[in-house]
Amino acid sequence: MKAASRFENFPAYQPIEPFDVLSARLGRPIAEIVKLDANENPYGLAPKARQALAELAFANIYPDPESRVLRAGLAAFTGVPAEYLMAGSGADELIDLLLRVLLEPGERVLTCPPTFPMYAFDTLLNQGQVVNVPRRPDFSLDLQGIRAAVAAQSPRVLFLANPNNPDGGLLPPEVIEDLLELPLMVVLDEAYIEFTEEGGRLGERMSQIKTVPRRQNLVVLRTFSKWAGLAGLRCGYGAFPAWLMPVLWKAKQPYNVNVAASAAAIASLADLDWLAANVEKLRSERARLFACLEQIPYLETQPSQANFILCRVKERSAVELKQALLAQAILVRYYNIPPVEDCLRISVGRPQDTRRICQALLALAGDPDLEKHVLAAWADSEVAVPASPSGPTDGRSAHVRRQTGETLVEISLGLDGAGAHTIHTGLGFFDHMLTQLAVHGLFDLEIEGQGDLQVDPHHLVEDTALALGEAFSQALGDRKGITRMGSALVPMDESLAEVVVDFSSRPYAVIQVDWHAPTVGGIPNSLWAHFLESFALRAGCTLHVTLRGGRDDHHQVEAIFKALGRALEAAVRLDPRRSGQVPSSKGTLTV
Ligand SMILES: Cc1ncc(COP(=O)(O)O)c(C=O)c1O
Repeated sequence: MKAASRFENFPAYQPIEPFDVLSARLGRPIAEIVKLDANENPYGLAPKARQALAELAFANIYPDPESRVLRAGLAAFTGVPAEYLMAGSGADELIDLLLRVLLEPGERVLTCPPTFPMYAFDTLLNQGQVVNVPRRPDFSLDLQGIRAAVAAQSPRVLFLANPNNPDGGLLPPEVIEDLLELPLMVVLDEAYIEFTEEGGRLGERMSQIKTVPRRQNLVVLRTFSKWAGLAGLRCGYGAFPAWLMPVLWKAKQPYNVNVAASAAAIASLADLDWLAANVEKLRSERARLFACLEQIPYLETQPSQANFILCRVKERSAVELKQALLAQAILVRYYNIPPVEDCLRISVGRPQDTRRICQALLALAGDPDLEKHVLAAWADSEVAVPASPSGPTDGRSAHVRRQTGETLVEISLGLDGAGAHTIHTGLGFFDHMLTQLAVHGLFDLEIEGQGDLQVDPHHLVEDTALALGEAFSQALGDRKGITRMGSALVPMDESLAEVVVDFSSRPYAVIQVDWHAPTVGGIPNSLWAHFLESFALRAGCTLHVTLRGGRDDHHQVEAIFKALGRALEAAVRLDPRRSGQVPSSKGTLTV
């Protein structure tokens, strides 16, 4: 038996490795890996998408071959009627499908490298020929070259990523108009359009998708992989000219969008505020990453409108730099083909990811003054930048919103953070204490709390504790691989606080503190024990807090919150020796 001869020298696509494979290869727990090599969304899927997956019914039944509910949602989202829309198992599937229905064997497809390699890969797979018109050194299109190639070789299709991968550059709208005059099908791949600076909310002002119905030769591809964090589920979509739709329906695999991807995509469209907030965070993180990369003397940085930044490595080997980063569990994409030889593409991550990669790059620059200067400037900006995680993501983070008739508390927590925090409860002293928890526990923490302070601080302090406990519990998930117990003894001048915590799933609190006055910072001292008990209840932990001595109530509370941060940090820390195991002889630690 033998495969078709055209596959004898067929160039294989180089895919990216997933977290678990990387973790095994690098011998590092997933939480320690900074994965900036595939333009994935570090904030993960929207809470509603996560819930939709948890509640997925009928996975035993084939999906709707027409993806009707999803296409109706996409029509509302994009403003394009559903009859022009088709969903696919990622935009990748639609690139293949489109070429399958457009190309006769030997027909040509025009691409403008460097660009997304799937255009060439799928052209070859569909027995077409690739015509390359390389971009100029500044990554702009060679329009003359494109026109000449169209005249000489009559390609059927032109693929353009907008913004382009790997440089992140956008096409001017007048260039798109010009290219649409050419006698071929123009495919605009808008995988990253949601991240564009001038694109408004989720790229709506910049996308060409709305213009598809009034044209005959424009296809626009989009994906849920990047802005909506569904890369692993595989869901993309496209808008196609009306004349092409019947043949696409005929040729596509009947059940191409699986029920999980479909449910998560539909739910994502119902959670746009949450997702748009993450896109905003990534946009501002792109600016911070860019500012840092620009200061690294051996990098030449390309401005980008997408969730990645391309850098040319000068005066040293790019591949060695990639390896040096890999040794620190930091993954970036390396290119060795002209015109991006010696280039690295770095995806935009969370603030703690930016810090890790920039620290590593600065250390390799071998200039301690520069390192100090850049990192000192950061200490301020990190507090101003919104804390990284929102929503339960594939990393160890959680988003909790707790609303009652008395309070509204919203918390985002990242366990593997850098202590970035924004905390507003309207109770200055309480904010100061929660800040101690974030800074000394190295948790990324955003807390927005409002409540009936006209009554007294009780409800807001209590509900913040419950929401914070819930956030820890959610972020820890099944508690596999954690150290589980942690303790800290922390002084504050004359005060000395001892905190011992065990994420046992047995809520229990023993609080032994003597106070000297009824209140501190406007908060009754009796509330601190209540805060700690409420936290333990929802976090599913055993908590012992003992004040070994003290005279000043402010010092006492502060020592307790610092010690709580330290003890929690120790307890939630991942221990590589326990990787994948629940640290309990019972075999479960779920509350
Ligand atoms: C330009 C471009 N288009 C499409 C994709 C793939 O999209 P999907 O995950 O929906 O297949 C990528 C992924 O990296 C990309 O860079």
